[in-house]
Amino acid sequence: MIRLGVNIDHVATLRQVRRATYPSITAAAALCEKAGIYGITVHLREDRRHIQDADVYALKEILTTSLNLEMANNADVVSVALDVKPDEVCMVPERREELTTEGGLDVAGQLASLKPVVKDLSQAGIAVSMFIDPEIAQVEAAAALGAPCVELHTGAYANHSGPEREHELQRLMIAAKRAGEIGIQVNAGHGLTLKNVGPVLALPNLDTLNIGHSIVCDALYVGLEQAVRAFMSSLVRDQ
Ligand code: PXP
Repeated sequence: MIRLGVNIDHVATLRQVRRATYPSITAAAALCEKAGIYGITVHLREDRRHIQDADVYALKEILTTSLNLEMANNADVVSVALDVKPDEVCMVPERREELTTEGGLDVAGQLASLKPVVKDLSQAGIAVSMFIDPEIAQVEAAAALGAPCVELHTGAYANHSGPEREHELQRLMIAAKRAGEIGIQVNAGHGLTLKNVGPVLALPNLDTLNIGHSIVCDALYVGLEQAVRAFMSSLVRDQ
C-alpha cells in the first residue's frame, strides 16, 4: 500500500479568506490522522496566504504522525523550519502570483544556492525532499545534493488527458525508476484525485503520495475523515 500524506493548506485557505479563527488546522489534522494517514503536509508560503507560522508550530506539537513542511529556498521560511524541526521538508519553487506550485524546482540549475540549505536542514535531523518535474537530470541533481527523497510533480499528468496524459505518465515512470536505481525515496503529488490517481500507483519505487486540494474538496460532501478514508482505500496496488 502506498502511504498517504494529506496536505491541509486549503483548510487554512478557508480560514484566511475571513481572517477567522476557524476552521482549526489542528482539528483537521487530527481527523486525517484518525483515518490512518502517514502524515500531514503544509506549505508555509513566503506570502503566508494560507498556512501561518503558528500553524506549523501547533502541528508539530499535536501530530502523532509525521510533519512534512513544503517551502521555498527563502531565508525567513528556512529559519522557521530549522526552529520547528519538522520530520521532513520538501523544497518547492514559489512565485507570488501563482495559484499553486506550478512546476518543479530546478534543482540542477540551483545547486549552489540549495547546497547550504540542504546541509543545514539535514544537520538538524530533517529529511529533505525536492519537488521536481519528472526529469532524470533533476533526480540526479537532487541525489548529488544528498537529498534522500524526491517528490515527482504529477500536475502535468493530472492536467492532460488521452495520449498526452499517457506521455506524462511515462515521464513519471522513467524518473521514478531512475530515483530507485540511485537509491532515493520516490514520492509524488499535485493535482491527484480519486479519478486520476489509479495509473500513478504503478510508478516504480513509489513510497508516498501527497494530496491536498481534492481531499479538502471531497470533505465538503462527505466530511474530512471519510474523504481521507476514501483516498486511503484507493491506494492499494494490484498484486
Ligand atoms: N506536493 C507539493 C510539493 C505541493 O506543492 C502540493 C500543493 O501544495 C501538493 C503536493 C498537493 O497538491 P494538490 O493540492 O493539488 O493535491
